[in-house]
Parts: sequence; C-alpha cells; structure tokens
Amino acid sequence: MTGQVRVAVTVNGVRHVSDVPARQLLVSYLREDIGLTGTKIGCDTSSCGACTVLLDGESVKSCTIFTAQADGEDITTIEGLASDGELHPVQRAFNEQHALQCGYCTPGMVLALVSLLREQPDADEQEIRRGLEGNLCRCTGYTPIVRAACSITATGGCTGPPETTAVDGQVSSPDGPA
Ligand code: FES
Ligand code: FES
Repeated sequence: MTGQVRVAVTVNGVRHVSDVPARQLLVSYLREDIGLTGTKIGCDTSSCGACTVLLDGESVKSCTIFTAQADGEDITTIEGLASDGELHPVQRAFNEQHALQCGYCTPGMVLALVSLLREQPDADEQEIRRGLEGNLCRCTGYTPIVRAACSITATGGCTGPPETTAVDGQVSSPDGPA
C-alpha cells in the first residue's frame, strides 16, 4: 500500500512484523500499534527524554526516529527491563532511593541510565548528570535520581563534584531546578 513500509523489529524479545506508515514515529508504533504505553510522550520535539528506549542497547529518543529506521533492530522498552520477576538494578535503585514522584519521566530516565552505566560503569556524579542532560524531570529536583545512579556504579558510589553541581542549568541542586 502506498505510504506503508514493512518493518520487522524485536521488542522486548518478541518479533513483530508490521506494515506501518512510512513517516510513523517509533514512539507511536510502540504505544499505539503494540500497546507498550510505558514509553511516554512528553514534548514530541526531542527535548524531554520521556520517550527514551534502547535501540540495540543504545538509548534513543523514540520521538526522533521513524519506525522504518528501526527495521531489523532490537528494542527494549521499560516493560522489557525486568527479568524473571526481578527488577533491573537501575529500577531497584530508583525504588530504594525514592527517585520518582509522578513517574512520568521515570521510564526514560531508567533506560537512559541503563545505557549510560553499561558504557561507563564507573561513572562519577558529573558524568551521570551530563549523561542525563537530555532527560527532564519536573518533580524530583534530580538529586534522588543521581543518588540512585551513584548507588549502583561499579565503585559503589559517586566520587567527583558534590550533588549541588548543576550541569548546563538542567540538573538542579537539592533546593530545586537551577
Ligand atoms: Fe521524545 Fe520528549 S517526547 S524527547
Ligand atoms: Fe515527575 Fe520526573 S518524577 S517528571
């Protein structure tokens, strides 16, 4: 059919083959076509990170790519992170460190951190804050999110600048957004 493309993707270990609109965004495919609504839409303009998923292990904002561009790829959404009934360590750390309030940013934050800590298991606080620059949270002030990430680094805690360091005005001090 004109304007449709056939796409085969593996999402959370399940293979899907679908005909989708050529210009459909991946976030729409995940939420509307296969019903994985854990991936959120915040801004739809690549600013907030709520739509972050893993594409072959790398975090991507799923509102910035077409479903067709994911053809042949492995995608992990928040629904696919826990395994055998066990939360992923990043999810567990969020729970233990009270790193969420409304939870809207949480799936994207968690997946961004999974990717970051896979690449930099010994990341320090500043590297974690920098790595989360593309993910916005309106509730937590970021401090508990960074604390959660720090709690599971390879060094078992963050070294580096104190928690009050802001990065590009996004990650705030414990007193609120910069
Ligand atoms: Fe994709 Fe905000 S919805 S970055
Ligand atoms: Fe509400 Fe982050 S917990 S936006």
